[in-house]
Amino acid sequence: MMNQTEVCSVMNDSAWLAFCESVLEVQRSNFMKEMEERLRVFGSKSSMGMFDSAVLLALVRKFAPSVCVETGGNLGMSSSFILQGMYEAGIQGGKLLSVEVDPKIPVGSMIPERLRSGFNPLFGDVKHLMKKEVFPEQIDLFLHDSSHRYKYQSLEFRYFWTKLRSSGVLVSHDVNFNASFVDFVSSTYRHDKIGVTDWARTTHRVWGRLGTIGFIVKA
Ligand SMILES: C[S@@+](CC[C@H](N)C(=O)[O-])C[C@H]1O[C@@H](n2cnc3c(N)ncnc32)[C@H](O)[C@@H]1O
Repeated sequence: MMNQTEVCSVMNDSAWLAFCESVLEVQRSNFMKEMEERLRVFGSKSSMGMFDSAVLLALVRKFAPSVCVETGGNLGMSSSFILQGMYEAGIQGGKLLSVEVDPKIPVGSMIPERLRSGFNPLFGDVKHLMKKEVFPEQIDLFLHDSSHRYKYQSLEFRYFWTKLRSSGVLVSHDVNFNASFVDFVSSTYRHDKIGVTDWARTTHRVWGRLGTIGFIVKA
């Protein structure tokens, strides 16, 4: 059972400050310059923007996941930042499963060659793949960046939350498009009789938003 101190330690004042510094450090890094150039040469209008990508990398650095799943792989902007984050976090043999529904898209083509060893593209509609149970049973980080429709996002959040291990992190891009992320976060809270958060029954430890990236850490 978690107590209030454990809950707060994940993202207390100093942790938030360190996280923001990490985002700024990514923003100024050579990797960022490399990806800006790749975005100019290979990118599409659908690719994740630079600030949100920096936030994503900082989250990966912080939580050091080994097993990652992303939906909406496209050309691989978000994939590149996840893979670079795993590399910077010192993860050996990390895996990123990247799901894309459109077979015409050269999935992952933006990813720098040196980061590709852990990249696993998977073609198909996430909804159909869920029924086929192709996803790992224990996921450390999930990123939603596929169809930004309320019902679809809610479905992905509910499904992948059950696959996340304890202390795993669910990340969503474009959380401002509709209320699915905030509604999902809301559904993880439990309150006591006087309306104070009951941390023993609440199923997240912390959540937040920076840019249009939202994240929630499972208890
Ligand atoms: C916003 S783009 C993703 C951008 C990518 N994450 C990046 O940063 O380069 C959304 C992608 O999701 C894909 N997509 C949409 N609905 C999907 C679904 N149901 N299953 C899998 N992929 C889907 C689209 O084909 C599109 O390539």
